[in-house]
Amino acid sequence: MRILYLSPASEIGGAEKCLLELIRSLSPARFESHLAVPRAGPFARAAAAAGAQVSIEAWPWPMLWVGRRGRLLAIVLLPLFVLRAAGVVLRLARYARENRIDLIHTNGTKAHILGCGVSLLTKRPLVWHLRDVMAPGLLRTVLNALGRFVPRRVIANSAATERSIWGDRVHSRSARIYDGIDPSEFTPGRPDPELRRSLGLGEGDFVVGIAGALAPLKGHRYLIEAMPRVLEVVGSARLLIVGDVIHTTMGHSRYRAELEGTVSALGLGDRVVFAGWREETAPFYRIMDVVVLGSVLPESFGRVLVEAMACERPVIATDIGASPEILAGGDCGVLVPPADVRAMADAIVALYRDPARRERMGREGRARVVGRFPLERNVAGIAALYEEILQDRS
Ligand code: GLC
Repeated sequence: MRILYLSPASEIGGAEKCLLELIRSLSPARFESHLAVPRAGPFARAAAAAGAQVSIEAWPWPMLWVGRRGRLLAIVLLPLFVLRAAGVVLRLARYARENRIDLIHTNGTKAHILGCGVSLLTKRPLVWHLRDVMAPGLLRTVLNALGRFVPRRVIANSAATERSIWGDRVHSRSARIYDGIDPSEFTPGRPDPELRRSLGLGEGDFVVGIAGALAPLKGHRYLIEAMPRVLEVVGSARLLIVGDVIHTTMGHSRYRAELEGTVSALGLGDRVVFAGWREETAPFYRIMDVVVLGSVLPESFGRVLVEAMACERPVIATDIGASPEILAGGDCGVLVPPADVRAMADAIVALYRDPARRERMGREGRARVVGRFPLERNVAGIAALYEEILQDRS
């Protein structure tokens, strides 16, 4: 069975990590993976290494650039987009025919829309894999309408994602399949003293960590702003930021410089360490005493939360999106309101003061991830969905 994955990304974020793991884990005897991306880059290289046949199908630059902030512009330029997008759709449809693709699987909002065109032209079934919590508005209305007719199945990576597109009346095409991680990759293990040293972290430092793309939605700013209050009580506190800017959409490129500006304006200097993008994140979680996912807009899943929990880290997350779902059942983490600097600082200090709770949370967190979010279950769910669609066709 030949699957064509469509992705709008060229760098590697959570959505891409999940797709790479899926490609790697599907049985090669049964599935052949093809991936089309708009640009060469780390994602294309990693997908090729994972065994996919990768093709670069350039998208016109405004399509890559428009995001949450460029909505108005997108509407004004809509006719131009449609025209340019039609060219991309035609080329992808040709690729699908020439390579005898059986199914198209899209991994990002723009790809869902293009995928509709490719699917209608080629009459190949389409699967949408939703990894964004949709805010009410035009885009949600469009996806909700298309989603009822064009894709054969619509995978949502959490209940939060599922509700955001369908509301309370979830459509029968919807399939809720949680993302998963490999519990043997994210293990507790011992913190690497060499890694700590290389980042300039002292032996006794209390390390608060955040991992993920540097993007305004992830709320780094509020975590940085919480540090002075944390430092009043915990003099040894350091903030370790793992990740870099990966999005091409408007408003992202200057975000790292903005954060660095906030760090110096608050006089935090070496209290905050930017580690940059790292391929392997488990060793970083292991040197963090607390891991934060402080997103100010809802996360569709929050892969880093699950990665950190599997490494037996206590976590603090904002009480929006899928985080409450992931942390439900047991005491695996603390929820705070989004963009609430004081609540964030207090939660960090409270965990600092209670090492026994941190340890317990870590253990409960790993047990929850192993039980509820193993990669195997995610892959089996998606493979079963492919098989079901294929059977319907024959
Ligand atoms: C996106 C979402 C994140 C999710 C990931 C994997 O990156 O922002 O919440 O964990 O996709 O589905």
